Amino acid sequence: MISEPLAVEAARYIPGGVSSAYRRVEPNLVFTRAAGACLHDADGNCYIDYHAAFGPALLGHCHPEVNRRVADTIGEIDLAGAGPGELEVALARKLVEHVPSAERVLFCNSGSEATMHAIRLARAATGRRKVVMFQGCYHGWHDAVLVDADGRPRSAGAHPSVAADTIALRYNDLDAVRDAVERAGGEIAAVIVEPVAHNMGVVLPREGFLRGLRETTAAHGIVLIFDEVVTGFRHGLGGYQAIAGVTPDLTTLGKAIANGFPLAALCGRADLMDRCGPDGDVFVAGTFNAHPGSVAAALATIGILEQPGSYEMLFSLGEQMRSGLAGIVERLGIEATAAGFGSIFVLYFLSGTIENYDDLRRNDVDLDWRFRRGMIERGHYLLPVPLKRGHVSLAHTESDIDATLEAAERALQESGAMRADGAGE
Ligand SMILES: Cc1ncc(COP(=O)(O)O)c(C=O)c1O
Repeated sequence: MISEPLAVEAARYIPGGVSSAYRRVEPNLVFTRAAGACLHDADGNCYIDYHAAFGPALLGHCHPEVNRRVADTIGEIDLAGAGPGELEVALARKLVEHVPSAERVLFCNSGSEATMHAIRLARAATGRRKVVMFQGCYHGWHDAVLVDADGRPRSAGAHPSVAADTIALRYNDLDAVRDAVERAGGEIAAVIVEPVAHNMGVVLPREGFLRGLRETTAAHGIVLIFDEVVTGFRHGLGGYQAIAGVTPDLTTLGKAIANGFPLAALCGRADLMDRCGPDGDVFVAGTFNAHPGSVAAALATIGILEQPGSYEMLFSLGEQMRSGLAGIVERLGIEATAAGFGSIFVLYFLSGTIENYDDLRRNDVDLDWRFRRGMIERGHYLLPVPLKRGHVSLAHTESDIDATLEAAERALQESGAMRADGAGE
């Protein structure tokens, strides 16, 4: 089997050849095996993977303990579709134990579903329609949050009146939030935010930004939603909210929670969440919600993350990558910034302040592409799309990262970013 004919055939049956718009990348490789830190393609090549399927693979691909627990569980029960599941209760208890905002938990299958339920619930609780989000953040594919930086719908067919109720503000701009609340506070149901903006790489919240959101929303009866679909479990068992010491009303979780199996969750304040139960007025349902296989994967994943040293290891590998990249670009004199948090890193091809999407417009997109393609050619898989974050997992080793840094130095040397005298342009 080889990648190219398979990719061509894929396009014959699947629109554009992929089942998720973000999966269409160049080179268009077909991956056939994943294990630990490695991805193998249909052409027999092996890559150290930092894409991590957009984030879920926190323990590494096909983690034996996770897969064993899934196999054991689905050997016992697939899906009953009535009443609660034994493991589902155990997992909900774990989330309540770990995530500061979680008094109640509802499981669904994707981050998009979780944010959709969160926004509907916020609208029900407040009797208001508008939603504030931030440019450069991503919260899934539904109409309320699928708007571009200018607030326009990003998909044909999106209901224009839904997008018209979404206000897209600059990340880290608390004044803009206060202005919006001043002007339309009585109409705003929710503020939804990625507590670290990982959909534009790694843009950290400015000191006081999250706390300011908490205070402003609380003062105006607006529901604060932390979308922790990326940050949850990747940065800590309590999510970034536990690190920041700011507790939102609602939290959405997904991706790393089940290390690659489809599971997401909405959790939050009991008085809000209880409106979602069968006795409440907010409708939540789903045939596959809390599928025992995914729930077992999440319990196994959390069990491993609870072991002492897990996060220290993830953070130390992430730091090795970031400081290594920073050293390389400094040595080569390339205008670039190695940013990141915990196990996530990104190399931005720009310098100066990075606080919002506008700052990232200075990124040298061509150089970003060339660097990523150079890395893939050398067997290190960074998603070949500018600004996309890279992830390390517990399956990566220090020597994997050393090898990646060595490749990065060569890829950058060959990228044309340096001047002939060795200093960057
Ligand atoms: C922060 C955030 N929220 C929500 C989503 C949507 O999750 P899903 O792709 O599982 O629907 C994503 C996906 O990338 C995300 O990064």
